[in-house]
Amino acid sequence: MSSNSPQSNQKPDLDETINVTQAHGRVASETAATAREHRIADNGHEPISLWVIISCGLVLLIAGAVLGNAGPWFDYDALVKPKYVRGTPPGAPPEGPASKEALPAYIAKGQKIYSANCNGCHGADGRGGPTFPSLAGSGWVTGNTQKFSMVVLNGLKGPTSTGKDYGVMAAIGAGLKAEELAALMTFARNSFGNSTGDIVTIEMAQAAIDASKARETPGTSVTAEELTAKHNIMLPGAVLDPKTPVDPSKLTPVK
Ligand code: HEC
Repeated sequence: MSSNSPQSNQKPDLDETINVTQAHGRVASETAATAREHRIADNGHEPISLWVIISCGLVLLIAGAVLGNAGPWFDYDALVKPKYVRGTPPGAPPEGPASKEALPAYIAKGQKIYSANCNGCHGADGRGGPTFPSLAGSGWVTGNTQKFSMVVLNGLKGPTSTGKDYGVMAAIGAGLKAEELAALMTFARNSFGNSTGDIVTIEMAQAAIDASKARETPGTSVTAEELTAKHNIMLPGAVLDPKTPVDPSKLTPVK
């Protein structure tokens, strides 16, 4: 006799047609089956994969760190060894800083420095005006380089090269680095109709900076008298062939 037979009288309090043990088992297995089913969601409302959330978090972390420039983790300089250069793939043309002939390279860099420091008074065309002397055709610009450099580094208290007195020029070039001064002077000597064709090298500009510091009265404007008495010479240093290939930003020769 089966246990769910209506005749079974071992479960006196229950409806005789239901086998409670079996019914419980069925409910339990159906519940488990339902739980195993994926939750049904409308299109576009499916739950997002955990990996997507993790990847988005990483992207935000890195972007935030890069934008906020946080710490050494993402700092290029801290991570990359100094002087690190990527190897050249076999068969590729040899790499190196793009080179340019010295004279045009010095002039191009010098023009930027002139625009930033001198334009306002001497004009983009270098011709000055009623209150500023012309650098076009100025004998102090195209003549002995130490004279010119002393005016740029220390300023000038009139008279000027033409004998005309415009008052005072401040020490506009006092903060220039040697390569900036070199580029600026080379530009002025080869622009506005001036064409000495030579280069005031970084070495020569450094000599100018040193000579400027060594003046008897450093920090004061030079005068025509001092220029003629003490600085009427070419700046010392090796001459650079205007066709030498140089790095256009550092102005140093490249092989
Ligand atoms: C704020 C205006 C001003 C700026 C900027 C300025 N200068 Fe002058 N510069 C003058 C004045 C004014 C004189 C004449 C001073 C005098 O009569 O003593 C002068 C004179 C000169 C002279 C002498 C010219 C000659 O033939 O006697 C040179 C060279 C010169 N400046 C170069 C430069 C250069 C290069 C720069 C940029 C680095 C520059 N100046 C920036 C006002 C300026």
